[in-house]
Amino acid sequence: SELSTVNEKGHMVFAGLDVVSLTKEFQTPLFVYNVEKIRKNAQAFVEGFKRLGIKAQVAYASKAFSSVAMLQVAKQEGLSLDVVSQGELYTAIKADFPMDKVHLHGNNKSRDELRMALEHKIGCIVIDNFHDIALLKELLVDADETMDVLIRVTPGIEAHTHDYILTGNEDSKFGFDLKNQAKQAYEEIKQIKGLRLKGLHCHIGSQIFETDGFIMAIKRLYEVLADWYKADGFQASVLNLGGGFGIRYTDEDEPLPLENYVGALVDEVTLEAHKYGLSLPEIWIEPGRAIVGDAAITLYEIGSKKEIPHVRNYVAIDGGMTDNIRPALYQAKYDAVIANKANHPKTYPCSIAGKCCESGDMLIYDTLLPEVEPGDILAVFSTGAYGYSMASHYNRFPKPAVVFVENNKATLVVKRETYVDVTQNDLSYE
Ligand code: LLP
Repeated sequence: SELSTVNEKGHMVFAGLDVVSLTKEFQTPLFVYNVEKIRKNAQAFVEGFKRLGIKAQVAYASKAFSSVAMLQVAKQEGLSLDVVSQGELYTAIKADFPMDKVHLHGNNKSRDELRMALEHKIGCIVIDNFHDIALLKELLVDADETMDVLIRVTPGIEAHTHDYILTGNEDSKFGFDLKNQAKQAYEEIKQIKGLRLKGLHCHIGSQIFETDGFIMAIKRLYEVLADWYKADGFQASVLNLGGGFGIRYTDEDEPLPLENYVGALVDEVTLEAHKYGLSLPEIWIEPGRAIVGDAAITLYEIGSKKEIPHVRNYVAIDGGMTDNIRPALYQAKYDAVIANKANHPKTYPCSIAGKCCESGDMLIYDTLLPEVEPGDILAVFSTGAYGYSMASHYNRFPKPAVVFVENNKATLVVKRETYVDVTQNDLSYE
């Protein structure tokens, strides 16, 4: 990986530190984030818009990895924040994130969630469905406050990605369809005094490597905006185009430089706005994976092996689907190395198994490692997004620790859970 090197001991070095030493200090499984890389990714987006002279908000999609320290870094980089639940909003409050830069999503927002968003005067609520509108109408009935809102629509675009993570196609649980529902939502929102409609939102999918899907979506959004402009002069001041910018997990992936996505979005929005005689809106985006995905590795310790001649060699680690469910859920691919044998020839064909009681708990199929022994350290690349955030307690595994590295210094930012934590809500029934 571009981010790792090897030191004189033959150990892998990540963000300037010997990762074998990190496992001695913090144990395994361990998530290690290179904070400089997080900042670099964030700035690629922020600077991309700046360079083109476009007003923008780059909202970190905190579902990719939410923790107090992570949101503090997002704040330091001038990002906005996309939250999709009360728990993510609560984390933002705990991190002292500027509330006016927080955007709330969700396809089934509760009254409590919406009330919390209103109380904390967050920047924007992305309205997903008629239930949202009804609840907001009720909550705002005798308040003099106003809330900025966007209407989320499904532009019916199929992004080039794995089916399971498609959210922008027509048959989707998210957002209003463009044909009828969006207009009806628009009419209803206009009637509610406390709601200030800023524009539209769409999210076409995740782990997208091309810009054509975004371009098609922008065209569709502008057909709607052109209608509304004709009907009563509405002009969107914000267009939120969601996240989904792809990253490299293995050599098979060929993501674009992040600036290129920005350029494509800006070009197309400018073109369409011009075409319909509309003023240029602010462009908002919501990258999650592209900010944190390739900024982290996971470190595991290798334990047992099972060799089935002519079939497969299983090598088991001390984690698995409880800290990275993506291979089991999406057939996601990862690369890994043996961190304490970084210079050894890769002569051992094997597959890497987790330690959960489930056959599908496999991390990597058919890879090549050096000859492995118990106690070796496996480093898996590009695990910064949707790893820790989708972690579970299956088999009562405590969640791993998370470490941030910056300026050659490692800081624990999420403690490893203990068995006390795992059982803390269990009540006795004797
Ligand atoms: N905005 C909205 C409305 C979204 O639904 C998502 C992701 C994002 C932004 C951020 O997308 P990103 O830039 O991270 O691709 N668990 C799956 C990914 C689910 C994505 C859900 N929505 C995975 O591990 O691949």
